[in-house]
Formats: sequence, C-alpha cells, structure tokens
Amino acid sequence: MAPSVSDKRDGPADDPIAKAKAALQQTNEPSYPFYYPYFDVEEKFPPTEIFEFIDPGTRADPAKPHLLNPNTTTKDISPYLGTEVTGTQISQLSKEGLDELALYAAERKLLIFRDQDFKDLAPDRQIEIARHFGPIQRHPTSGNVKGYPEFHVERPIPEYRGGDRINGTSWHSDVSYEKQPPGTTFFFILDQPETGGDTLFLSQAEAYRRLSPEFQKRLEGLRAVHSAVEQAEFSRRRGGPVRREPVETEHPLVRVHPVTGEKALYVNQGFTRRIVGFKHEESEYLLKFLFDHISKSADFHVRATYRPGTVVVWDNRLTAHSATGDFDKVIRRHAVRLTPQAEVPVPA
Ligand SMILES: [Fe+2]
Repeated sequence: MAPSVSDKRDGPADDPIAKAKAALQQTNEPSYPFYYPYFDVEEKFPPTEIFEFIDPGTRADPAKPHLLNPNTTTKDISPYLGTEVTGTQISQLSKEGLDELALYAAERKLLIFRDQDFKDLAPDRQIEIARHFGPIQRHPTSGNVKGYPEFHVERPIPEYRGGDRINGTSWHSDVSYEKQPPGTTFFFILDQPETGGDTLFLSQAEAYRRLSPEFQKRLEGLRAVHSAVEQAEFSRRRGGPVRREPVETEHPLVRVHPVTGEKALYVNQGFTRRIVGFKHEESEYLLKFLFDHISKSADFHVRATYRPGTVVVWDNRLTAHSATGDFDKVIRRHAVRLTPQAEVPVPA
C-alpha cells in the first residue's frame, strides 16, 4: 500500500509537503518582528480617567503651509472623504504641521500618506508623534507590543475569519465605548498582501446629511450605549487578556466635531448596543435602520489601499471602517495602530 500523506510528514528533505511547510513558514516571517502581537494575561490597566482635551486642529492655519509643502501632491478619492497624499513626510512635520494634519484629517476624514518612513522610526518617536493628537489609548484586549502598550497590533490572521458569516465586513468606529473615544488615528502597514487587505471607510458626516431634516431632528438629543463587554468576553473565552474591566458608555447619536463644527452620526455595529430610553424593539428597529443606512450607502464609501510605506490617518469621530477579508490566510498582513483619544463627544 502506498504511504499516506501523514506517513510522509517526517520524510526526507526533498519531501514536497515539508518543502511547502518551510515555504509557508518563510512567507509568514514578519518583516517587523518587534511588532509581533504580544498578549500578557497578567497585564492590567486602571480604569481610564477623564482628561482635558484641546484638539490640535483648533490651532491650525487653515491654509496648512507646514503640512502641504511645494512638493506635496494631494488627490481626493471621493468628494466626501479620503485624500491620497504624496510628498509630505509625517516624521518631518513641525508642531504646526501636526496641528494642520489634525485639521486636514477632520476635513477629509481619511488621509492616505504614501512612501512614509514612519514604520522605520524608533517606537518612542512613533508614539511621540501620535501623542501630539491626544493621550494614546492602551487597548484592553488586543495584541500590543511588549513594553509598549500604546501599540495596537492588527492580527496577522484577522480574527473575523471563520464563524458562519457570509462575509467579513464589520463596520465599526474604534473603541467607541471609551468615555473619550479616539480622534486623529494612525495606522501603518508593515506587511501587506500583493492584492487585497484594503480597509473600507465611510463618512458618518455624509451619512447624517443624507437623512431628512425631520429625521435628523428626531435623532438629535438621543443617546446610545457603546459596550466593550462582548470584546472582553471574546478575549476571555480564548484565554486572552482583559487588561481593564469592560466599560459601557452613553454617547450622543449625533455628535459635533470640535474643530469643524460638522455633525456626524455616531453609531456603529461593532459597539453600539441600544438607544437610551427606548424599549428593546424600538431600539433594535432604529439601530438596524441606521446600520443598514451606513453600510449600504456605497456613494460615501471608499477603500484605503496599502503599499509598503503607507500610513493611513483618519478621524475616528467622523468615520466608520471595516477590514476586508479578501486575501488568502497564509499571506501575512501586519499593521499597527496608534489611537490618540479625544474629547467627550459633544452632542448636536
Ligand atoms: Fe478598527
């Protein structure tokens, strides 16, 4: 009888299965092992405390002379959100330039910076730049970097794969359960598939504008509960860390941006659970409508694409996003987020 596949596993060096495994291991070697996700179940953080926040965008020169220099090229991806920027090096920006970056991110919602040296800076310098935009959130459950809990590491094989869903689309606004959720957010790619692995983004400001004035009026003044409980339970079930007890926070359904004054919907399927003061069915009904509205309105969606050196900066207060699970599992996608927290959301 011919040997079975399993019989051949420990075969000679030219064994095709052993070769394939070795090749797979090689493709899975991270280019930046320093940022390999680190999980310490013993790591604990105290509850977050309210801090005073002044958005750096309020100090910015609207002309943005320190951000957009004569070598800078910008190209809008959609009228509503997203601009690709080349010729500006984030690492070289002065304090004024960083202030202008906050304003530009608020205006365009999403900025895709190409050819950045950001990933090759020292981690302390990366943190220093991001900290200009607010104290950096330390994620309660995700992979971080040993000794640097400010980094949130995007898992090489995203956890949303698997389960019994038809697709992996999962619209959310990062950690919106925090009392002071993130504002200007940084995401830099370390390894990416040749094709695929984009991030979908949408404008929550345009989502709000599309509603009728009567419906807008009904939403204003409402508050919704954003919950960290499921995320913490998911981590616990897998033996992962829960560094801080999960919080549930009420936020306005429509919030106002502190720099631009723009109104935006502030609900997301990832973390928004119920509308305060509504009965269960009423809350379900309205949230389902809003989740459908934002997820189906492709005319204010864009895709952020990645190339080596890409740094994506977005305003978490005005957008929702989702990963795309459209590349083969064996291909490494490795990215890191720095997530400065902003103001207590201002109701419309
Ligand atoms: Fe996210």
